[in-house]
Amino acid sequence: GKPERHVAVFGAGYIGLVTGACLAELGHRVVVRDIDPDKVALLRAGDVPIYEPGLGDMIARNKERLTFTLDLAETLDGAEIAYVCVDTPPSASGDADLSRLWAVVKSLEGAAHLKAVVVKSTVPVGTGARVRAALDAAGLAHVGYAANPEFTAEGRAVTDFLKPDRIVIGSADEATAALITDLHDGVDGPVVVMDVRSAEMVKLASNALLATKISFINEIATLCEKTGADVEEVARAVGLDHRLGPHFLRPGIGWGGSCFPKDSEALRQLASNTGYHLQLLSAVIDVNNLQKRRAVQKLHDELGTLAGMRVALLGLTFKPGTDDMREAPSTVLAARLLAEGAEVRTWDPMARPAGVEPWSSTTRHPTPELALAGADAAIVVTEWPQLKEVDWAGAASVMRRPVLYDGRNLFDPAAMRALGYTYMSVGRP
Ligand code: UDX
Repeated sequence: GKPERHVAVFGAGYIGLVTGACLAELGHRVVVRDIDPDKVALLRAGDVPIYEPGLGDMIARNKERLTFTLDLAETLDGAEIAYVCVDTPPSASGDADLSRLWAVVKSLEGAAHLKAVVVKSTVPVGTGARVRAALDAAGLAHVGYAANPEFTAEGRAVTDFLKPDRIVIGSADEATAALITDLHDGVDGPVVVMDVRSAEMVKLASNALLATKISFINEIATLCEKTGADVEEVARAVGLDHRLGPHFLRPGIGWGGSCFPKDSEALRQLASNTGYHLQLLSAVIDVNNLQKRRAVQKLHDELGTLAGMRVALLGLTFKPGTDDMREAPSTVLAARLLAEGAEVRTWDPMARPAGVEPWSSTTRHPTPELALAGADAAIVVTEWPQLKEVDWAGAASVMRRPVLYDGRNLFDPAAMRALGYTYMSVGRP
């Protein structure tokens, strides 16, 4: 096998933890650094601050090779490769806020023993060139640079790292590309080497195209509603065309999460900064915003008014299998319903209780049944498998009005109507 490397990972967030744990699993020595004392203390005590299948076990079984620290000197001591995995949230201007990334780059300034600096954070195209220049200016011209974007989806991050569709490595020099390629020895997936800017673009383009597929099928779903076609049948057959593929054609209540909204907005902003308006992507974002509002409109049409109505939101996280509420469609739904004067009651098995608006004006229930009791309407927002286990016949009899908008097409329309529901879903007759 390839030599074991000593890797310093900056950022113990979602990507840093997965990267650090997986590199340790591959046999490398990894020190993960974060500036949040609570997070580091938690990790040192053997707790994992995020929910990700397989990650806790992986961290536990690699504890000989994987350490966590606040201390910079300890992080860099003996390190050959510095992995930058800090977050790059939207800034006031809509561009990615790179302040955390620059803080890490600055902290590398005396680390002349490094062989390479690798940026995994999602960044605007051109960031690598600026990091390169900063390293050169700091006397680190001999240290290589690579962009190595991640494509992991939440809930399957460990598998995505160890069995990816591709590993993208952007670097201007062959030695660095080879070093990072070898670092991934044991990962089951093709390595694609290219220039830095292209690697940065691959990440943004991939997420934009995935979001485009979803918005596209959501728009077709709207048209199916108006023409009497069934979007599930349409998507199934469209997806059988191998040029199109079956993935990301599930109609729903709109996409959310930590990546799609942020990255599509960042790509649009990046284009605007060059003087070009990305027309297709702008429409993709518009369709997604509309999709959430349409759900509330449908209830409004059905109930006549939403004022004083009790509406149950079933599932709050942006997708099942995670506790992540970032850019979850449920937040927009709750805020819109409250603005219409509705009373909002919620159920979710994992979402962390949030004390902020709109959630502080809603009532959380421990089971879907309790959220449904006495409700005038309900919206299936997240396709949690638990919703399949609900006694829907019983729920229909305890709801004040059995109006159900199934935003994820979880149920069979005929079966739900047979139970007495006024049942609406996405793009089905
Ligand atoms: C995504 C990308 O998949 C990943 O490659 C990237 O690195 C980060 O963003 P993630 O945000 O974890 O990962 O979630 P994903 O499972 O891709 O779903 C994103 C959103 O799209 C969710 O809100 C989901 O409900 C929605 N979605 C997905 C649909 O509405 N329909 C689909 O067919 C697929």
